Amino acid sequence: MKDVSKLILEDGAVQDRRIYWDQDIYEQELEQIFARAWQFLAHEGQIPNAGDFLTTRMGEDNVIVARQPDGTIKAFINSCPHRGNVVCHADTGNAKAFTCAYHGWAFGLDGALATVPLEHDAYYDAIERPRYAMHPVAKVESYKGLVFGTFDARAPSLRDYLGDMAWYMDTFLDVPGGIELLGPPMKSILNCNWKVPVENFIADGYHVGWAHAAALKAIESPLSPLAGNQAYDVNTGLQVATRGGHGFGVIWDAAAAIHPEGGAFRDWLAKRTPIIRERLGEWRSRFYNGHWDASIFPNCSFLYGTNTWKLWLPMGPHNIEVWTWTLVEKDMPAELKQMMVATNMMTFGTAGMLETDDGENMEQCTGSNRGWVTRRGKLYSGMGQVREGRHPELPGIIGKGIVCETSNRGFYRRWAELMSGRSWEEVAREPRSAPNREVA
Ligand code: FES
Ligand SMILES: [Fe+2]
Repeated sequence: MKDVSKLILEDGAVQDRRIYWDQDIYEQELEQIFARAWQFLAHEGQIPNAGDFLTTRMGEDNVIVARQPDGTIKAFINSCPHRGNVVCHADTGNAKAFTCAYHGWAFGLDGALATVPLEHDAYYDAIERPRYAMHPVAKVESYKGLVFGTFDARAPSLRDYLGDMAWYMDTFLDVPGGIELLGPPMKSILNCNWKVPVENFIADGYHVGWAHAAALKAIESPLSPLAGNQAYDVNTGLQVATRGGHGFGVIWDAAAAIHPEGGAFRDWLAKRTPIIRERLGEWRSRFYNGHWDASIFPNCSFLYGTNTWKLWLPMGPHNIEVWTWTLVEKDMPAELKQMMVATNMMTFGTAGMLETDDGENMEQCTGSNRGWVTRRGKLYSGMGQVREGRHPELPGIIGKGIVCETSNRGFYRRWAELMSGRSWEEVAREPRSAPNREVA
């Protein structure tokens, strides 16, 4: 295993450029991160009934996620244990069994090998069927409707893995009726390293007024004055890095700000806020009205407010597939949900105005490292490091204002921890406290 101890320096603020380019580092990510960490698989509402399934990926492994007759959810690798063929070619559907197109082995909803053509005549009944079940995802758990899986049986529980991020995400997950992810997901390809969009979503309030200046003007929403950083109050909001590499930034009172026709959403927020305050307290009622840019380690991101939900699926060190759903509250009226979908498509869909701004930058940020000399350099995300600290009431490390890189550093600290190959127990024994400085 490659020694990665020098790749992330200065408490997460300095990254070696090779982590965005080198094949051997990428292979180590597949082994140490994607084969160990919990990854987003689905929202329970996408597969509500027995036999409902969808196909997705964990790292570069294709998986089937299926609702079982007893209501639980199982996942297994979508590759036939006979000769390796892809067993299920559909994105989603309802099935009683999965049958391989090559020689006809059939598997139950739980991945067990159920029938084998010519079992008696050709195998002489000597095949040990339990040995040839589809390879299971070791653990599948859900948190308030969000389903995650890990290949590592020794991984902590999903709740422990999410840590303080779960407390923050309850803001929109723990609403009456819960949430929905509206799809099918838009899918596109970007020629960038998977970490580049994750860091963009987890921490990059800095680029918004600059990279999106033209789009912000064109959209003609309450966010338009940010264009060109003309009227960007960088102190409105804060950034949070939670232990475990998850984090987000929030702009206060801006949940509906990107929507040109945001009136119905603002009315919805006003109506629901007293309920959220009652249920979750003052702070989270405030977060409920904020606009968030967020990532869940390793490769799931979302913007609460806009309301886009993303998976950045790695396809090698320089390429990803982007999957985009629309996040809505289940109890929202149908017209409001439709408005959410429309704004998400206009902003962060495949051809969305902000998506294309970001995509171009993300591809160039990756591609420049093709240069042998270039990639011996370092990158810097130290913004706000001298001002971050603890908050009297909020968990995690708090960065001051929306324009800082506190949660970016948290992400890279976690990346370095897992890439070192240390066990979950070893990593957990090193609790990280915020710098001893109060950030209000
Ligand atoms: S490869 Fe699937 S049955 Fe042979
Ligand atoms: Fe952006």
